[in-house]
Amino acid sequence: MLILGIESSCDETAAAVVENGRRVLSNIIASQIDLHAPTGGVVPEVAAREHAVKIIPVIDRALKEARVSARRIDALAVTCCPGLISCLLVGVNAGKTLSFLWKKPLIPVHHIHGHLYAPWLSHNEAVQFPVVSLSVSGGHNELVLISDYQRFRVLGATLDDAAGEAYDKVARLLGLSYPGGPALSKLAEKGDPFYYQLPRVFMEKYKNPKNWRNLDFSFSGLKTATLRLLQKEGNRIRVSDLAASFQHAVNEVLSTKLLNAAMKYGACEIHLTGGVSANQDLRKKIETALRDRFSPTLGELTLSPKVRFRFPVDLKYCTDNAAMIAGAGYFQYRKAPSKYVNWRRVQADAQFRL
Ligand code: KG4
Ligand code: ZN
Repeated sequence: MLILGIESSCDETAAAVVENGRRVLSNIIASQIDLHAPTGGVVPEVAAREHAVKIIPVIDRALKEARVSARRIDALAVTCCPGLISCLLVGVNAGKTLSFLWKKPLIPVHHIHGHLYAPWLSHNEAVQFPVVSLSVSGGHNELVLISDYQRFRVLGATLDDAAGEAYDKVARLLGLSYPGGPALSKLAEKGDPFYYQLPRVFMEKYKNPKNWRNLDFSFSGLKTATLRLLQKEGNRIRVSDLAASFQHAVNEVLSTKLLNAAMKYGACEIHLTGGVSANQDLRKKIETALRDRFSPTLGELTLSPKVRFRFPVDLKYCTDNAAMIAGAGYFQYRKAPSKYVNWRRVQADAQFRL
């Protein structure tokens, strides 16, 4: 089954053709990074206008690169939420129009479901359930138990900022370019992660055991602590040591909660996805703990030695892309095909009333 995926929830206009939910035939992304660099963040109105310009050429390229004609596409999948409303509207209306013209089913996909499917792309081996997945981006931060295809349970989420948002804001404080995450992690390579002590929220094992079991996240305090430290130290600040200490604090929380949840729910697979999954230090922390069967914060890992750690095979699948939307759309369709057969009714679906 061939699905054309469309994604436009934030600052990437993307289209992809994916076969049977896994085999990526094309994955086109028109990034708006340069457009938003002068403002240091996404301006929704500016982003939406750019999506409107790029959406048709991007879809066209996705079809051409996959060497398929519109006739061969079986269904369309489009991000319907969450995201910047004016940006979502562009993708959803493109999807609706093409579904109407081509008379093909249209599948509304939740953006985070898309991220959860990103580690499955381009993998041939079947996924072993249960999976504990951490999806962490600029806009969201969720720990999810996946007990079967299409069966998700949110175990924890951020109570304020997502980790990617914290990376971006701290990078901005350090005068780094947008988007901050990759720039900060590059700077952190040269720094000492133990130089500055920064807070780790909901991780105070000995003070409050309840916090230890808490699978929620909070990063706004860490952001403020970094700002206060910068204000206090002024010119004496050791920038790369601060970047490394900040990265260490965020990644220690993320990896510990992920491993903690995996142990608690007896995961067969551990997945890491979303923009921040591109972070090499975060991947290394999880890989090292799994290899040594020991986590610096959790101690001995009571996990099966066969547990598998997956992250998106390509960095292009970490950040926003349409291949993951097509992948998620395929499994959604497979679960209830009859729901999408009548393309006229799907067009009027409540999920499309943004
Ligand atoms: O998934 P994504 O493209 O958009 C959202 O759905 O939010 O994720 C973008 C986020 C940004 O906050 C960016 O700074 C962060 O992912 N990011 C990283 C890295 N690469 C991207 N954060 C830390 N280290 C990286 N290497
Ligand atoms: Zn995203």
